[in-house]
Amino acid sequence: MKSDPEFPQPRYSSCSAIRERKPNIAIDGPAGAGKTTIARLAARRLGFTYISTGALYRAITLGLLKRQVDITEFENSSDQESVLQTMTISVGYDSGEPRICLDGEDVTDRLSDASVTQWVSEVARIPKVRACLLDLQRRCASSGGVVMDGRDIGSFVLPDAEFKFFLTASVEERARRRALELQANGQEVSLEQVRSIIEKRDRIDSTRSVAPLIKAEDAIEIDTTGKSIEEVLDELLSHVTRSVHADRGES
Ligand code: CDP
Repeated sequence: MKSDPEFPQPRYSSCSAIRERKPNIAIDGPAGAGKTTIARLAARRLGFTYISTGALYRAITLGLLKRQVDITEFENSSDQESVLQTMTISVGYDSGEPRICLDGEDVTDRLSDASVTQWVSEVARIPKVRACLLDLQRRCASSGGVVMDGRDIGSFVLPDAEFKFFLTASVEERARRRALELQANGQEVSLEQVRSIIEKRDRIDSTRSVAPLIKAEDAIEIDTTGKSIEEVLDELLSHVTRSVHADRGES
């Protein structure tokens, strides 16, 4: 097992069994619940591929903004399909880290721009946008061994994923985490601004007509409020490890 510089290693003795089995792991939840951090670290620990589906919705949003499309008008436009067809989105990897290309350009570092965050949930609720990303997401997971995070992975994109988790946290904690993250990246935002954007995105994501943010019936919920990254990661990986052990008849 490769060592992870952020945490002491190794703790998951059955990693080789998990790698052989290559289950897909779906991690869903609202904004700021810690999905991306946990999914990325879990993938690294298990030697799996990490895919952020939020990054794909963000890439389409960036593509629309670059084309100077008025997103409010686009939501009801009859040109949706033809505009979406002009975009090429692909996922690549650099030293194991996912990179997103839009129209042949690596745009990974622009996906958390404030303008993208402001519009992404409006874009993601458009049924044609969701349909155009569904196939790409399923193809990415078709060989197994993927940790995929999003809003509808366990409930809709990968309903047969072997492991499904739903991460939550209080809105106060989610806003606080996201504000610190943005401030660390040099964005000037107040806690109140971040909280109101998060609440708005949660509302749009939970109430849209196609594949809303929802906990799949068979998902394990982890409330991350007040827990460290290591505690949450431990809870999630322990569950995966225990389950693989149990299936192999090991205690
Ligand atoms: O990281 P954060 O929680 O801010 O969000 P994200 O994972 O980057 O996703 C950005 C937005 O994309 C979400 O607020 C949703 O509107 C949308 N999204 C979605 O609709 N379905 C997914 N599977 C993933 C993201």
